[in-house]
Amino acid sequence: MITIEFSEVSQSFHGRQIFGPLSAKLHSGRITAVTGCNGSGKSTFLKLVGHLLLPTKGQVTVSDADGILKQAELREHLAMVTPELRLYDRLTARENMDFFLGLRGISLADAAYRQLLERVELSFKAANAAYTGEFSTGMRQRLKMAVLLAAQADIWLLDEPGANLDEAGRAMVAREVRAAARQNVLVALATNDPGEEALADEIIALAGD
Ligand SMILES: Nc1ncnc2c1ncn2[C@@H]1O[C@H](COP(=O)(O)OP(=O)(O)O)[C@@H](O)[C@H]1O
Ligand SMILES: [Mg+2]
Repeated sequence: MITIEFSEVSQSFHGRQIFGPLSAKLHSGRITAVTGCNGSGKSTFLKLVGHLLLPTKGQVTVSDADGILKQAELREHLAMVTPELRLYDRLTARENMDFFLGLRGISLADAAYRQLLERVELSFKAANAAYTGEFSTGMRQRLKMAVLLAAQADIWLLDEPGANLDEAGRAMVAREVRAAARQNVLVALATNDPGEEALADEIIALAGD
């Protein structure tokens, strides 16, 4: 059971406050959507959850049954899909998966690889026909989802996961997010998409300026 707690968190860049003070709790098995206009701080919120950024004021803590997780411990729990994550253009889909999963000590059998491609609805033939640099943005997004699914993480940080996906792709994301929450994954979802908002048990609305 994981709990993420924001206590009176304010975030500023170059002296300009983006949001805050914000207090919130996110829990395992729950889907929390972070909403707000462009620039309101949704991606920043996810970075604070992942301890990729320290808050200007206040505290963000991630705890499990044994207490507060340190940054290195937290990393093992987290998986993230974000536009800022770059796949390697000159690697194949399989090589990208092996690289990113290898960082987590996970090796993927051929059958598991094929199954993951099926889950994210990326055709085996198309995925293997080109380097990922030649993929459409939607295909790259599906591949990022496949890495997330294989990562065995219990905290998912999804930054506008449906952007660049067609309707079938957005339905796939919704299906996987719901299934993950049922398996007690904590999902934090930055979005402006009403369909994705509708998945959420909890909404944190950032005001923007
Ligand atoms: N590392 C950074 N340095 C300076 N400003 C930043 C940084 N990250 C984000 N910002 C600013 O913070 C605001 C919120 O950004 P972001 O969290 O990306 O918003 P959103 O994801 O809601 O569109 C924007 O004005 C952005 O320019
Ligand atoms: Mg963003």
